[in-house]
Amino acid sequence: MTAETADVDNTGGGFLHEALHNRRLLGVALIAAIGGFLFGYDTGVIGGAMLFMQKDLGLKTHQQQELTVAILLLGAVTGALIAGYSADMFSRRRTKIVSGCIYVTGALAAAFSQSYWQILASRFWLGLAVGCASFVAPMYIAEIVPARIRGGVVSFNQLMITSGILVAYIVDWGFAGFSDNWRWMFGVAVVPGAALAVGMYFMPFSPRWLVEKGREDEAREVLRRYRDSDDDVDDEIKEIKNVSESEASVRDLLKKGVRRMLVVGIGLAVFQQIVGINTVIYYAPTILKFAGQQNTGALTQSVFIGCTNVFFTIVAILLLDKLGRRFFLISGTSILTVSLVGLGIFFASPGVQHAVPWLALACLLTYIMGFAVGLGPVFWLMISEIFPIQMRGPAMAVCSMFNWGLNFAISYTFLTLTGAITKQGTFWLYAFFGVCAVVFFLTLVPETKDRSLEQIQADLGADADTALSRGEHEQGHEREQESEAVRS
Ligand code: BGC
Repeated sequence: MTAETADVDNTGGGFLHEALHNRRLLGVALIAAIGGFLFGYDTGVIGGAMLFMQKDLGLKTHQQQELTVAILLLGAVTGALIAGYSADMFSRRRTKIVSGCIYVTGALAAAFSQSYWQILASRFWLGLAVGCASFVAPMYIAEIVPARIRGGVVSFNQLMITSGILVAYIVDWGFAGFSDNWRWMFGVAVVPGAALAVGMYFMPFSPRWLVEKGREDEAREVLRRYRDSDDDVDDEIKEIKNVSESEASVRDLLKKGVRRMLVVGIGLAVFQQIVGINTVIYYAPTILKFAGQQNTGALTQSVFIGCTNVFFTIVAILLLDKLGRRFFLISGTSILTVSLVGLGIFFASPGVQHAVPWLALACLLTYIMGFAVGLGPVFWLMISEIFPIQMRGPAMAVCSMFNWGLNFAISYTFLTLTGAITKQGTFWLYAFFGVCAVVFFLTLVPETKDRSLEQIQADLGADADTALSRGEHEQGHEREQESEAVRS
């Protein structure tokens, strides 16, 4: 996400509304968002593929299966690091073209894998593109859309990720009866991958990148094409210049005034993962098989999980600005915690399994609902809101790294944990983390809805000298003016 994403509309409602009225904007957002979609697809597809590839590729042990799932996340961390550098050096646009090519070659490599080592290598390669997408796709879109709807990009991206996961589940289910099914599951990602590479070839450079490279005239040209009136264009160029001049480095994040914000951002990043979301996303069919389903039943029910995820992400996007972030964080995480306890009870008691065989699916559905309205979108949204403008880039990068790192740790240990402390023990452990998360939200996380950046940072104990320097005050003032304009 860019450093200048301070706006009025931070959830996706305004973004979707404006994009639907401006075809050019919609086109560029959709093409760029294929990256987020593929991020969801490539992380979700493994759930179903794993059921069938185990035998063909000889993935006998839990460790082999876990590494096949989790190596993509190691690739993602690496990809995010490289993409951060390459997006500045070679442009967001070219970086996205390359990531489209990686998606295509990675999908083919995974589909044609003949051994454990080949699937590991191709999943790592795909991970590079996923890490890039998680970072460069929202950044590019945010830099091209008007400031007032820029924040909505974050939620829009979450919607694309959940849609990618859902499509992956549907594809897994659709190919279940075919021979070589898992190869097709991986292989079809060639189509959106190619669409991303070719589509981005025809898209413009980001105006912010152009300004940073001293190509102001071209930046003006791009902005003119995507804005309703020319009047805003000069102001926007001025704003971009201000922001890039005052941008901070990762080291500035350790300053006293920003520490509390960093605790909140990193806390949200960590809790989003340690409540076990990706054991459900990546292992849903496996968990349903643990609960007694056959392959096909497990895949069909995973589709319900994917639908619930998308549906409640939309609900969150529409209501986050009305009911507030804290409301959804606290209630959503409480719901998912109770569901984890229920899932544990199901696995702990053969009597319950016999009497209420549908309980596991019901718990998984309420779990995903709780996540989709709470930690899912709110983590990404809040880290784009709580940091001072000039620190937002590095701060968001640090929070994302924590998120990917914990994502890896949880998915790499899930099956081993179920063996070591039982299935119920594993879900109760995640439930315990859910309780800690709610306590953390209640005590440390401020409300950001309807609040200016200065107010948010005052809540977080920001030190005026370090955190709220010139650029920040200007940005906060602009945000208030924009709020005024929208209200009147
Ligand atoms: C998380 C991902 C997760 C996805 C599920 C995202 O917000 O960062 O790790 O797979 O939500 O919807």
